[in-house]
Amino acid sequence: MNRVFSGVQPTGNLHLGNYLGAIKNWVAMQATHDCLYCIVDLHAITVPQDPAALRAATREVTAGLLASGIDPKVSIVFNQSQVKGHAALAWILNCLTPLGWLNRMTQFKEKAGKARDQAGLGLYAYPVLMAADILLYKATHVPVGEDQKQHLELARDIAGAFNRQSGVEVFPLPEPMILGPATRVMSLRDGTKKMSKSDTSDYSRINLTDDASTIALKIRKAKTDSEPTVTYEPKRRPEAANLIDIFAALSGETAEAVTRRFSDSGFSAFKNALGELAVEKLGPLAAEMRRLMQHQDYIDEVLRAGGERAQHIAERNLAEVENLVGLLKP
Ligand code: AMP
Ligand code: TRP
Repeated sequence: MNRVFSGVQPTGNLHLGNYLGAIKNWVAMQATHDCLYCIVDLHAITVPQDPAALRAATREVTAGLLASGIDPKVSIVFNQSQVKGHAALAWILNCLTPLGWLNRMTQFKEKAGKARDQAGLGLYAYPVLMAADILLYKATHVPVGEDQKQHLELARDIAGAFNRQSGVEVFPLPEPMILGPATRVMSLRDGTKKMSKSDTSDYSRINLTDDASTIALKIRKAKTDSEPTVTYEPKRRPEAANLIDIFAALSGETAEAVTRRFSDSGFSAFKNALGELAVEKLGPLAAEMRRLMQHQDYIDEVLRAGGERAQHIAERNLAEVENLVGLLKP
């Protein structure tokens, strides 16, 4: 049995990195796998959130998934906090995860920064909750962007530790699926930083809600070196390589094919073509997302129904785990 699970945080805007690194692959996997796609609000609260903004972002991200082509009749789409098993399983897994494993997590170090003692326990335990998300459904495949690779290795280690401790192969070891030419989309302002929801400059990213003229403008203004030709040299020309990767992911080609096609036409012609392609692919998505966001009742019903379906699977698996650990259900 192949089951896909993946998650996205309801914090800030969905951007091109989320779309090309993750969501586009999620859409494709619906044809071949049983899929659960989760808006991870419990992960979001590992850093301070405004309650009303968090609720709004949960709905907005849901609209983004649906607008991208996730079909809620086929896939299970829900927000994490509806299914209490995520937190319950996370607690059980916390109890068998050595601190040493968590101390290696680079994302915690980045997010906590220098004020490490001020960081919350939830932020530290974030990767264990992520393992619980996946294992609660015994998911076998997890499509994510490159930045989640370390967290997935930890999830595999935790699954293995639980299986060994209980003497039963309860959890399949989840396979990371890091797919496509744009698994790490970089900022449009700085080719050494990944495109992120939290960057203060809106010109660093293309939001899935951006209209056509904003998309075109951001691509036109994207920082590049001054070389006039199109060559693919990620080390020496990271900004140019990033735009080529984005083009390839949007057009469904390889970076090499894109580079070859534009090798005689010069960089500014390439940038114009990228602007047009991005508008063509993302414009309709933004329009559909704006339309869906007018229908809050529909979004809420999708999440409620998805939560119910997820709960069905979660309940059974959690009961099995609780029994193996020795928790009594009188
Ligand atoms: P997040 O927004 O951090 O919840 O990420 C949701 C999904 O998008 C995860 O699978 C990430 O790996 C992926 N993702 C986020 N930022 C990028 C990026 N700049 N490039 C590629 N994938 C990304
Ligand atoms: N940590 C992931 C991110 O920030 C989101 C996430 C939470 C996730 N739980 C997950 C991804 C389970 C895959 C599987 O991108």
